[in-house]
Amino acid sequence: MNVLVTGGCGFIGSNLVKYLRRQRPDWKVVNLDKLTYAGNLETLADLEGDSQHVFVRGDVGNRELVEFVLRQHRIDAVMHLAAESHVDRSILGPEVFIQTNVLGTQQLLEASKAAGIKRFLMVSTDEVYGSLGPTGYFTETSPIQPSSPYSSSKASSDLVALAYHHTFGMDVVVTRCSNNYGRYQFPEKLIPLMTVNALHDRPLPVYGDGQNVRDWLHVEDHCQALLLALEKGRAGEVYNIGGGAERRNIEIVRGILQLTGKPETLIKYVQDRPGHDRRYAIDPAKIREELGWTPAHTFEQGLEDTVRWYVDNRTWWERVMSGAYRQYFETQYKARLAA
Ligand code: NAD
Ligand code: TYD
Repeated sequence: MNVLVTGGCGFIGSNLVKYLRRQRPDWKVVNLDKLTYAGNLETLADLEGDSQHVFVRGDVGNRELVEFVLRQHRIDAVMHLAAESHVDRSILGPEVFIQTNVLGTQQLLEASKAAGIKRFLMVSTDEVYGSLGPTGYFTETSPIQPSSPYSSSKASSDLVALAYHHTFGMDVVVTRCSNNYGRYQFPEKLIPLMTVNALHDRPLPVYGDGQNVRDWLHVEDHCQALLLALEKGRAGEVYNIGGGAERRNIEIVRGILQLTGKPETLIKYVQDRPGHDRRYAIDPAKIREELGWTPAHTFEQGLEDTVRWYVDNRTWWERVMSGAYRQYFETQYKARLAA
């Protein structure tokens, strides 16, 4: 079996590429990634010399290139993860989110249709459902009500992928997962950002009242669910993937301070994110009952392991945060603390 993973140099993609190499050693994994600020080849350094992993630098929106790669490597299935993925960035500049997430996905679908791909796994997000109140859970039939430019671009691409199934008969499966955490996550999302700030003794910017809730999913549990969905999911179906670990942001920030041995005086409440979704929570009954998936990691252990990984892998995050990103980070960070 030959699989194309898009975005395989990002956080989830790199974990997935390694997971596939371990779990399906006879598969060839072709990794198509544009290497934006969020994609780093160093993350895959341990796959150097592995002839079953092929890296191709390119844009998912480059239809000619994608079709060439699909045919050249006789790709059977596509696992589509490449995206602009950060809500705050989508508020600052929505355009690239539409370009990559919506138009890029459509070009990738078109190339996949032309090349006769047998299965297309679209990795979407629970953020397509919008915000929950204090009770209830997202199910696969919850209304699609995205709030941010990021989540609306993901909702669009998720629906376009399903349209390729309904209209053209393509074999498409969509997964919608909750917030991932784990090793190799770019230090702009909550857990790695707060960890890196704590290690630098810098203030930890908590948006609003810190009471927003996310459901946290360990990236390894997510990878397991993606492989199951690829191999056993039913065409045209959507599967929600959640970690069963709802936590308030402030609880997580306090946990990180405890794990790094830093004082709570580093917590700084800052202006809320515009359109900030209050709560996400997933009902994972469908994937559990149909595909037999349950998460293996507990959040407390997973968080401890993740924070330890960032403590032990300073070189990785110092490198990925250098250059142009460093400038963006400093500007945004200062603006946030000043607001
Ligand atoms: P990430 O930002 O860490 O990585 C994205 C990767 O895609 C990077 O390697 C980047 O270089 C690549 N990329 C960006 N634009 C590209 C383009 N035009 N062509 C080719 N490659 C391109 O993202 P992530 O957190 O690993 O998320 C992966 C997927 O999972 C995304 O589709 C995201 O929407 C989805 N998702 C993520 C989370 C989460 O908590 N991280 C939750 C739900 C869904
Ligand atoms: P984030 O990691 O950006 O993921 P998402 O917005 O996709 O859920 O944010 C997770 C939560 O943490 C969200 O409620 C916003 C909050 N947050 C902060 O309070 N401060 C920060 O600096 C960041 C990046 C996020």
